[in-house]
Amino acid sequence: MKTLVVYYSRSGNNKKIADELASSFPKADLERIVPEKDYHGMMGWLKAGYSAPKFKRVKINASRNPLDYNLVIFGGPLWAWGNLNNPLLSYLSNYKFKKTAFFSVSGSGNISQAMKQLQELGINPIATLALSDRELRENAYKSKITDFCSSLKKIK
Ligand SMILES: Cc1cc2nc3c(=O)[nH]c(=O)nc-3n(C[C@H](O)[C@H](O)[C@H](O)COP(=O)(O)O)c2cc1C
Repeated sequence: MKTLVVYYSRSGNNKKIADELASSFPKADLERIVPEKDYHGMMGWLKAGYSAPKFKRVKINASRNPLDYNLVIFGGPLWAWGNLNNPLLSYLSNYKFKKTAFFSVSGSGNISQAMKQLQELGINPIATLALSDRELRENAYKSKITDFCSSLKKIK
């Protein structure tokens, strides 16, 4: 199964999981979403907090075509009341995907608001992986990754 792992990460947590997921799937490609806006530093934090609940689309760069893949595993942090971050939301708005799976590392590990947004975009992930910052910090997430990957590998 041709697999793409695509992610946005502001401070590295979701990059770490994206790297691990990509290495769990033989020959998976890894794509980082790069927004034209800079979300780093205090100004970036304010921008992120302001724009996420407004569902603002932003300009992004990503080079691979997700339509070339049977499975697209996408992920990133949640911002301001559990919303999808704007770079990932913008990416997802650009395509009609075949099969998807969703992962997110966030402060709370609660993806319910993000799932509502995905539903509104017409995206229904076949599997989800929701991790909290604490699980990442305490290295208490490996079994969840294993379960997520094996459920995806069963689906052809
Ligand atoms: C502006 C901003 C708002 C955030 N709002 C939330 C939130 O509403 N819910 C939540 O669970 N985490 C929230 N977080 C925490 C991030 O989702 C979390 O720290 C995540 O692991 C960061 O991922 P990254 O290192 O890949 O950027 C917020 C972070 C930022 C920067």
